[in-house]
Amino acid sequence: MAKRDLLSTTDLSPEEIRQVVGRASLLKGGEKSTALEGKSVAMLFEKPSLRTRVSFDVGIKQLGGHPVYLGGNEVGLGGREAISDVAQVLSRYVDAIVARVYQHQTLEDLANHASVPVINALSDVEHPCQALGDMLTIQESLGKADGVSIAFVGDGNNVAASLALAAASLGAGCTIASPEGYELPETLLRMAVQRAKASGAVVVQVSAPEEAVTGADVVYTDVWVSMGQEDETKERLEIFRGYQVNPSLMELAKPGAIFMHPLPAHHGEEVGNGMLEHPASVVFNQAENRLHAQKAVLEKILEGLGE
Ligand code: CP
Ligand code: NVA
Repeated sequence: MAKRDLLSTTDLSPEEIRQVVGRASLLKGGEKSTALEGKSVAMLFEKPSLRTRVSFDVGIKQLGGHPVYLGGNEVGLGGREAISDVAQVLSRYVDAIVARVYQHQTLEDLANHASVPVINALSDVEHPCQALGDMLTIQESLGKADGVSIAFVGDGNNVAASLALAAASLGAGCTIASPEGYELPETLLRMAVQRAKASGAVVVQVSAPEEAVTGADVVYTDVWVSMGQEDETKERLEIFRGYQVNPSLMELAKPGAIFMHPLPAHHGEEVGNGMLEHPASVVFNQAENRLHAQKAVLEKILEGLGE
């Protein structure tokens, strides 16, 4: 059986996204799995992480597997050693590679040279594991994803891209409000629109936060300065100033709407102080759901391999 990678949310069909979210819910409900028994997974992280690192580590162990954490500096991907060589060497030791990288191309290079699956644990382009956990959170909180309307306020970044793709796959609409020049990249927007057409949802980019949030079921935001963009901090804080999610913006959403954020949050920037404790906030369930979703992803990606 050919190995498969999860670099983009679109590496899973809409049906597979539905299956992963459904399976994650069962795992959360207490179903046991030994899908990774006797298997090892390398966790290669070029950037810092709390949620992704801990949830993959714990999740791999809960599935009976063995995680091996490798910090970017130790490995020196593309510096100390060529990416293609790292990929081939790791493939001789482990059954899958989970990687968090600066450049999405690094994931592509790893995947092209590894004989084992590569899973995107965040790149500059996408964060598919976040989006899968997020769809579980939306289903749990609102009872469904189909027909739900999501307002993403802020940077058209990795988190926004994967969210729009996963939401559109499950029939949830997504309106992304970003300042000019910080919209979702054209190719990703087009892919999300394509998936939305098939599911009957609508994905649209706008500029005003109020336009996106009015009547929304989910209000979602993420940091204004992503990892790797630290040099742009000053100008970004200026440009995004009108894009803060706070209780008064939240009031425009539908009654019973939820507030989501992938975390880490920058209080007083993209979120008003106290927003994580707002009655609408589901951010800590959202963080927990990374664990369940990633266990379902690992099962899916490793299904049938090495038997
Ligand atoms: N949401 C998320 O990916 O968090 P970490 O950067 O802490 O892994
Ligand atoms: N957009 C953020 C997400 C962190 C989980 C970043 O890339 O830093």
